Amino acid sequence: MTKSAPDALPDLLTFCDGSAVTSAADWQRRREEISRLIVNIEYGGLPSTPGTTSLEVLHRARVCGDNSPHFVSCRVQTGPEAPFSFLLTLTIPQGDGPFPVVINGDACWRYVTDEVAGYVTDRGFILAQFNRVEIASDIHSAARDHGIYLAYPNGTYGALAAWAWGYHRCVDALITQPFVDPSRIAITGHSRGGKTVLLAGATDDRIALTTANNSGAGGAGCFRHQGPNSETLAGICHNFPHWFGPELEAYGGRENELPFDQHFLKALHAPRALLTMEALEDLWANPSGTWLTHCAATAVYDLLNVPDRINVTFRDGTHKHSPADWLRFLDVMEWQLCGKPKPADLGPNPFSG
Ligand code: GCU
Repeated sequence: MTKSAPDALPDLLTFCDGSAVTSAADWQRRREEISRLIVNIEYGGLPSTPGTTSLEVLHRARVCGDNSPHFVSCRVQTGPEAPFSFLLTLTIPQGDGPFPVVINGDACWRYVTDEVAGYVTDRGFILAQFNRVEIASDIHSAARDHGIYLAYPNGTYGALAAWAWGYHRCVDALITQPFVDPSRIAITGHSRGGKTVLLAGATDDRIALTTANNSGAGGAGCFRHQGPNSETLAGICHNFPHWFGPELEAYGGRENELPFDQHFLKALHAPRALLTMEALEDLWANPSGTWLTHCAATAVYDLLNVPDRINVTFRDGTHKHSPADWLRFLDVMEWQLCGKPKPADLGPNPFSG
């Protein structure tokens, strides 16, 4: 599986001063330490939180005919000092709600087909979609001269943090709406969008379920353990420097000196629900390394007595966010947030046992 065994992963349950984390109260303090380390070093911090966020409805229509879901175009607007806005579209099921919500920021990829949107509204959930590249461009050479970088110029945050901030602003705006159930907000994204939701969910307690699909390096994958043909820290920093903060690159080839690995990001979600979804032929995304970060993060879920809230799934096949992935995620959302039974089949796991 590995060329050589990685050094042990940094211990989640030991404070930086060497003392042990033994209770839920300890964990809250340890969580703050961990959050500062990983968010700052890896992602360059987050853009600041605006004083206000509002939701302006721009257009409302039925998807197809009288009894179909509503399709509502909105603008998320921040203020008052640093005005910035982006579009959010809502597909809202029939009825008065309040409805659980699934937020997805990957509109630039257009893989959320009408079929997938129908899966979400058929479960009685709102689908809220935005296009993260409206907030920060995903062109590799992009200078910090556009989008959010103009409105929020301070800091060293990269595009993943800017996109995560977009999820946070959607939550700000949605929880003010009477048709939204603020206690049942889920976020999901694929690949670089999966890295984004892991950061967004790790840094916002209002998000009840985070689901990252095939998120790989900088997401659910382990930096210290590289499965065959998986993406390395040096490689991702070289090819996508605009995604991260400026400090990460120095750890290329020195992963064992990182004061964290990606199990820190996963553990920051506890006790809230976390699901990472992997594909066994997507070696680039390091499925075996994802299993290691999963196992390490369970220590915190166990400490908090919520072992069922963290899950990882593997499926056959390659890198994509397929309709079948959405169905599995929605089954888990109904289990985790709506009191439905645990799905009978979460897929094969060649790494356990
Ligand atoms: C590249 C990149 C991955 C990323 C993927 C994607 O393959 O190396 O880290 O997850 O793009 O976002 O599609």
